[in-house]
Amino acid sequence: MTKAGDSVSASTKGKKTGADEVILGPTGRPYQGFPTPKPLDSHGPARIIALCNQKGGVGKTTTTINLAASLAGYGRRVLAIDFDPQGALSAGLGIQTHDVETIYDLLLDTKRNPREVIVETRVEGLDILPANIDLSAAEVHLVNEVARETILARVLRKVASDYDVILIDCQPSLGLLTVNALTAAHGVLIPLECEFFALRGVALLVETIDKVRDRLNPAIELDGVLATMYDPRTLHSREVLERVVEAFGDDVLETVIGRTVKFPDASVSGMPITEFAPEHAAAQAYLRLARELVARGAVA
Ligand SMILES: Nc1ncnc2c1ncn2[C@@H]1O[C@H](COP(=O)(O)OP(=O)(O)O)[C@@H](O)[C@H]1O
Ligand SMILES: [Mg+2]
Repeated sequence: MTKAGDSVSASTKGKKTGADEVILGPTGRPYQGFPTPKPLDSHGPARIIALCNQKGGVGKTTTTINLAASLAGYGRRVLAIDFDPQGALSAGLGIQTHDVETIYDLLLDTKRNPREVIVETRVEGLDILPANIDLSAAEVHLVNEVARETILARVLRKVASDYDVILIDCQPSLGLLTVNALTAAHGVLIPLECEFFALRGVALLVETIDKVRDRLNPAIELDGVLATMYDPRTLHSREVLERVVEAFGDDVLETVIGRTVKFPDASVSGMPITEFAPEHAAAQAYLRLARELVARGAVA
């Protein structure tokens, strides 16, 4: 069933369906491995993906960190953008943000070269544009700018040729920063926690994406809905995932991220889980997510 480079982890293993021996994944579709991405001969221009959900604690930052590291591990050049004043992405990648220049400085002066602010992480092939609490002032400062929704797009245009993929870790709101992320992006990835009320607010998020498509960024695509914090042992988790599949159909990614305490542990260590515990099912799940997005054409 599975292809090279794939690993069926306990959290992603489905049930057998009788005589035909088809293994179903947690989304109810036949389980498939995704092939190891082929090495790239040349790099860029980047496809930009915004990780977006106005609900906090759904796994946006965790997914940005671990998807970014997984794609870098497959030889992609990756830029991760911390677009949340909480700076959790920066912290999770071990980048200190006190008294350093951040994405905020680039938003305020779009003539600046982003390369002066980008820093390398410990993960080879993965760079970051950090953020800190300064970013919380951005919405107020930018509200009177001309073309205020396209500021991030203008910043990223300058470095797009350096990377294969740029991931934007959005803050939990649908304000001007998130609209900037959606305007800059080619695709959007929606992490959804497999918990009560997972779908609450998602209609508003989809509406916001539709508005941005209508007015600012006609080409934006939904790259996928990612179920996170899935616990196959609870009926509740399985029911929520069923509901999500009913709502989004094939846009629900086949890769599902299981719930595990390894994530908080990895965050504290300032490392992606793919480095902190590479053999853990959760690390394998993010590697599979990276392969699935390459297989779907969302990433080169
Ligand atoms: N699959 C998971 N299992 C268990 N805990 C998780 C998982 N993904 C994320 N977490 C934890 O949940 C909290 C919120 O995740 P985070 O990625 O910061 O969400 P968001 O960026 O959407 O607010 C963090 O403490 C994180 O370590
Ligand atoms: Mg976050």
